[in-house]
Amino acid sequence: MAEVVIVPDRASAGDLVATEIAALISRRPDAVLGLATGSTPLPVYEALRARLAGIDVSRVRGFALDEYIGIDPAHPESYASVIAREVVEPLGLTPDLIRTPPADDADLATAGERYDQAIRAAGGVDVQILGIGTDGHIGFNEPGSSFASRTRVKTLTRQTRADNARFFDAIDEVPRHCLTQGLGTILEARHLVLLAFGEGKAEAVAGAVEGPVTAMLPGSAIQLHPHVTVVVDEAAASRLRLADYYRDTFASKPEWQGI
Ligand code: F6R
Repeated sequence: MAEVVIVPDRASAGDLVATEIAALISRRPDAVLGLATGSTPLPVYEALRARLAGIDVSRVRGFALDEYIGIDPAHPESYASVIAREVVEPLGLTPDLIRTPPADDADLATAGERYDQAIRAAGGVDVQILGIGTDGHIGFNEPGSSFASRTRVKTLTRQTRADNARFFDAIDEVPRHCLTQGLGTILEARHLVLLAFGEGKAEAVAGAVEGPVTAMLPGSAIQLHPHVTVVVDEAAASRLRLADYYRDTFASKPEWQGI
């Protein structure tokens, strides 16, 4: 089962995950990071600034989970821009080694396949950071997505577009389509770290961790993976039936084990 860590706040979540990523990069300077966008991973990227000080990050590689189709890559809310602004620049990563799905590619029918090939050629993702949508999506694999899906074009749900309208001036500006890693692609990463904060994510988290494995809640695909860490605050954990068990388990875990 996934290891569930219930933390007091976002900063503690960021510290916990950043510590793990810094240790990975120290061991393996050309580590491959799976990068999520949106609000959830920001505390991780913030904590990494301090944790990576003095560590050579020039060979770190990265693949973003998804990208909007139909907005200019230079748009401040394209995920290419967000990754450059929140991850590559502040952490001093090498821009050419960090990729986002090529959603502006002239041949979108094969762009996903080529992105999956690039991930494979890099040796696969070592640690994949994930957020979860209020409708249970991971990446932009909306409800109904196949667990075998690969990187491909998807249509965003109305709920996801409404949730993401906060990043744009109006909901009509939120793109309708995206190029997203598939659930099958995500499940190939060696370690999945799913973060969620706030009451609004409680139902999706409970469904992903403890609910039936179902395409109707794509986040439940994490139950098929052998190494998953779910890091949540109290509000996002509020609907977990086994919350006390997760607390006991983490409290009695030897420190050397990491997450
Ligand atoms: C972003 C992504 C999405 C988000 C999810 C939650 O790359 O893949 O699955 O993680 O929509 O978004 P936030 O974190 O903004 O609540």
